[in-house]
Amino acid sequence: MTQKKKRVLSGMRPTGPLHLGNLHGALLNWVEMQATYDCFYFIADWHALTSDYENPGRISAYSLDIIKDWLSVGLTPEKSTLFIQSDIKEHAELFVFFSMITPVPWLERNPTYKDQMVQLNNKDLSTFGFLGYPVLQAADIIMYKANGVPVGVDQVPHVEITREIARRFNYLYGNVFPEPEAILTQTPKILGLDRRKMSKSYDNAIFLTDPADVVRKKVAQMITDPQRARKSDPGNPDVCNVYEFHKLYSDTDTQTRLNKECRNAEIGCVDCKKIMAENLLAELTPIHEKREYYDKRPQLVTEIIEAGCEKATQIARETMREVRNAIGLSR
Ligand code: TRP
Ligand code: SF4
Repeated sequence: MTQKKKRVLSGMRPTGPLHLGNLHGALLNWVEMQATYDCFYFIADWHALTSDYENPGRISAYSLDIIKDWLSVGLTPEKSTLFIQSDIKEHAELFVFFSMITPVPWLERNPTYKDQMVQLNNKDLSTFGFLGYPVLQAADIIMYKANGVPVGVDQVPHVEITREIARRFNYLYGNVFPEPEAILTQTPKILGLDRRKMSKSYDNAIFLTDPADVVRKKVAQMITDPQRARKSDPGNPDVCNVYEFHKLYSDTDTQTRLNKECRNAEIGCVDCKKIMAENLLAELTPIHEKREYYDKRPQLVTEIIEAGCEKATQIARETMREVRNAIGLSR
């Protein structure tokens, strides 16, 4: 008998189109997991609303956009259940139950919460919903009894709170839920054009949907070894972000050659970047082609989303029946 696959679940907030940081930080790993796990990936649009409630206008457009990005990098409805959080109202019901049993201090001492309050100081985040962000996330995860949650290190506190909520629920109402584990993604350190973390809000990102000429232009703007002012100065690939990209997109022979030529001032950054841009584009082209395929078939995309939401709904309904039973609220 074949063993039942373990289930993983992860989500993304629809706050903008996906970029290379998302690709290497999460997506490629999600794609790979399809081979071994029963995968659930969803758009956390209610989570986007916790911080963007004043400007909710783009959220649903971004949601659709991101699902198309997912499909174009190789997530497939044959292997993964792809869905949208706000379609599954059961998440809200489970959130209510969890909010009854979650002590407020767990949320107040959440490092991600404290961090975001400082970083997003242009927004008023002193809301109940923003404080409760991890409770909603716990509902997302526990609803599907996920065993693993592939996330970046910034999300580990949220998975930890999820485990505590699962434990507390089981203690109070009987053993209903497994405790999920964070699956930390080993990711290359990919920085933005300006060497800060790649982010849409820093305006330093290369998006998956950027056309070839835009990619070339952006690569030409990248900051290289800051100590290297002239082509006649020797450079240091070890501190150069362009070289980090070469490690991802160029073959090892090219890397070795460029490394040496850079250190000996035999190649200028302009040429080095041109080589990288073309190798990067070779990786992006198949993604662009698949994206075009789905852009031309909006009906197909709608069907994929509907089928994913339908499957998620079935599971969520079943879980909520169990939850109401356990608490003793079923009629
Ligand atoms: N908080 C996650 C992020 O910002 C998104 C998210 C929401 C999520 N619910 C989730 C991730 C459940 C994993 C599992 O990236
Ligand atoms: Fe970076 Fe290439 Fe310039 Fe060297 S030649 S500093 S590796 S861009």
